[in-house]
Amino acid sequence: MRLRRATTLLVAALAVAPRPGHADPNDTPLRELPGARELLIGAAVMNNFWSAPDAEEYTRALATHFNALTPENQMKPEHLQPQRDTFRFEAADRFVAFAKEHRMTVHGHTLVWHQQNPGWLENGQWTRPALIAALSNHVATVVHRFKDDIAIWDVVNEAMGDNGKFRESFWTRAIGDEDRDGIPDYIGLAFRFARQADRDCILVYNDYGAENPNAKADAILKMMRDLKRNGTPIDAVGFQFHIKGLKFDFSEFRKNARRFASAGFRIYITEADFAIPPPVTPEKLAAQATLCRDMIRAARAIDGCGGVFWWGLTDRHSWLNSPQFGKGGADGLLLDRDYKPKPCHAAVREALR
Ligand code: G3I
Repeated sequence: MRLRRATTLLVAALAVAPRPGHADPNDTPLRELPGARELLIGAAVMNNFWSAPDAEEYTRALATHFNALTPENQMKPEHLQPQRDTFRFEAADRFVAFAKEHRMTVHGHTLVWHQQNPGWLENGQWTRPALIAALSNHVATVVHRFKDDIAIWDVVNEAMGDNGKFRESFWTRAIGDEDRDGIPDYIGLAFRFARQADRDCILVYNDYGAENPNAKADAILKMMRDLKRNGTPIDAVGFQFHIKGLKFDFSEFRKNARRFASAGFRIYITEADFAIPPPVTPEKLAAQATLCRDMIRAARAIDGCGGVFWWGLTDRHSWLNSPQFGKGGADGLLLDRDYKPKPCHAAVREALR
């Protein structure tokens, strides 16, 4: 694992992305700054980005500033295995090809979740052995197929409830906790299947709302420690960082993340956005910039923090723009709706120097 990860990071650091004539040093692409040698600087990439009307602007901005990417949706099970045993890799392959072309690391998202599953999986009448076989087949097939191209996988996503109790889903109902260790068995199994398929990949448990010490963070840390203790291959925690209200206490995050680092886990910030409640004002943009600067400073200060990913590239294309999701505001990313760098982009640049 170490060798390929080290190589991946080195390649990302040495990469020189297309440079759209940036004579002004303030325009230096983020990925060329010193901090990006030690930290992946990534963005979630929208569905079918290659065929969007603004594909050219989108891909230019992505390759210019970022040394890592994660597909926002198109590596989730509903996309990869829409029918049982029928895998569709066309879209996933486009992400990998783009990343290779631009020397970017790919963070795969996500192998196991309670959402965005195909109907055959989510609504099936499962016995425990049959669902374990389906889990094994999905994880093994996907991880093995991308074992030379995907350096980091979110293996299990959002298994913990906000109250620090495991979330119920078709996974917990059919597979249960036969070894009675208090952790639903599908979680440990998913990590084991992933490791069997790729001995090098960094295997992540990813969740939201656990950035600062709270009941959920405590429960996730306990779960990860217990899994590690019983020999489950689990390497890292992903803190999502979907932050509403333009307020966040990064000293608390540092404390929290250090607990995970001391327990032997790598840390990733996996899905950051700092939503602005409308209207967008210069003051709110400045508050957002401070948060982004402090996030990068915290990431650089925490031993074992491997990367910071925003959950999107430009405010033009963000999950927060959907009425379904955007209740606490939008405009949470580094580039505005016209692809112009925002104050938070300058703040990240400053923090990466
Ligand atoms: O693809 C269909 C399209 O055919 C249809 O016309 C359209 C109409 O609504 O929906 C499209 O699917 C949407 C899909 O995003 C693609 O845009 C789904 O409705 C929508 O639910 C789905 O939302 C995604 C969401 O996960 C699902 O929970 C967001 O894009 C994605 O940003 C979001 O990402 C999650 C992470 O995976 C896990 N952490 C939280 C994060 C934000 O919720």
